[in-house]
Amino acid sequence: MAYTVSKLTDYSSNALLKAFGEAKLAFREELRGASSPAGWKAVRDRWMARKNGILTQINDRLMAAPKEAKREIGQYLNDLKQFVEKEIETWQEHEEGSVGKLAPLFQSVDITLPGIRRPIGAEHPVIKTTNEMVRVFQKLGYSVADGPVVETDYYNFEALNFPPNHPARDTQDTLFIAGQQGKAQRERLLLRTHTSPVQIRTMETMRPPIRILIPGTVHRNDPPDASHSPMFHQIEGLAVDTNITFGDLKGTLDHAMKEFFGSSVKTSFRPSFFPFTEPSAEMFVSCFICGGSGRRGAEPCRPCKQTGWIEILGCGMVDPNVFQFVKDNGYDPKKVSGFAFGMGADRIALLKYGVDDLQLFFQGDVRFLGQWA
Ligand code: PHE
Repeated sequence: MAYTVSKLTDYSSNALLKAFGEAKLAFREELRGASSPAGWKAVRDRWMARKNGILTQINDRLMAAPKEAKREIGQYLNDLKQFVEKEIETWQEHEEGSVGKLAPLFQSVDITLPGIRRPIGAEHPVIKTTNEMVRVFQKLGYSVADGPVVETDYYNFEALNFPPNHPARDTQDTLFIAGQQGKAQRERLLLRTHTSPVQIRTMETMRPPIRILIPGTVHRNDPPDASHSPMFHQIEGLAVDTNITFGDLKGTLDHAMKEFFGSSVKTSFRPSFFPFTEPSAEMFVSCFICGGSGRRGAEPCRPCKQTGWIEILGCGMVDPNVFQFVKDNGYDPKKVSGFAFGMGADRIALLKYGVDDLQLFFQGDVRFLGQWA
């Protein structure tokens, strides 16, 4: 709000100090707000005009002051006049270039004040975990690929060997984009439920041999709680070449887990099912919290539910039916083979940092996230 001269009823030293202080501040704010020569000239005239300028107005107002206060008022008024004139002068000199370009615009800048701190931020724990995992695989010659989060039915399901209406689709709790019924099923949009569609997208553009890692966000229709979130992060891997075997899969993942969690962890592969891998497995690592014993001293180990093992990822050999969809780009299932795996980055970050509520990762509370700075 623009400054207006207020009526004084109290002429005590304190009241005068306050009133003149406010006037000074208001003037300085106005001058700072002026962004053009026309702007600061307007401020100058508003304050310094002989006829009805703010300084004149203040002067006139104070004519009514009691005699005893007049001396003090005179001093304050002089001080304010000098202040206004000096600031205007400084500005004018600056504008007219008679002061070097680097001269401070306002002599009122207090260079002894501490500077403004601009914190540089920190890696989010899930991104940090992802980057660490990516580095483990980059050392093995993997490169990074990505793809869209809003995906078609074709890439999320069909080309990954989920036939239309197959019950395996039910396991994915898919969030569909509305208003897609007019399209052919394979073109309908949805939020990708896993990073696996990028397997197909990569194989469409890159000929074998390939080794890629695919970090990214995925969505499922899960209500948020301590271990679920409708949005979460996966890290997918895919290797295709001639003569890739299940032994390569086990060796690669066992090595990667030792790099990531520490050389003492063991891995265990248990049969599972995914439409796009055959055979399929779930891989467990020995619990890096209790060392595999299932106990922490007298207490049961909660993260591994006392089993000594923690499930980390799903994996398997790429199903030949998947290669059929990219056969023309060099992926003849008779000639190439490969393995794929996919893990939840959020879950790994929870375990790694001993966080007990997944929601903390997504609430944006800097008191929590600042711990990774
Ligand atoms: N996409 C699977 C899932 O989200 C994980 C997976 C990836 C399994 C690659 C096998 C191979 O559950």
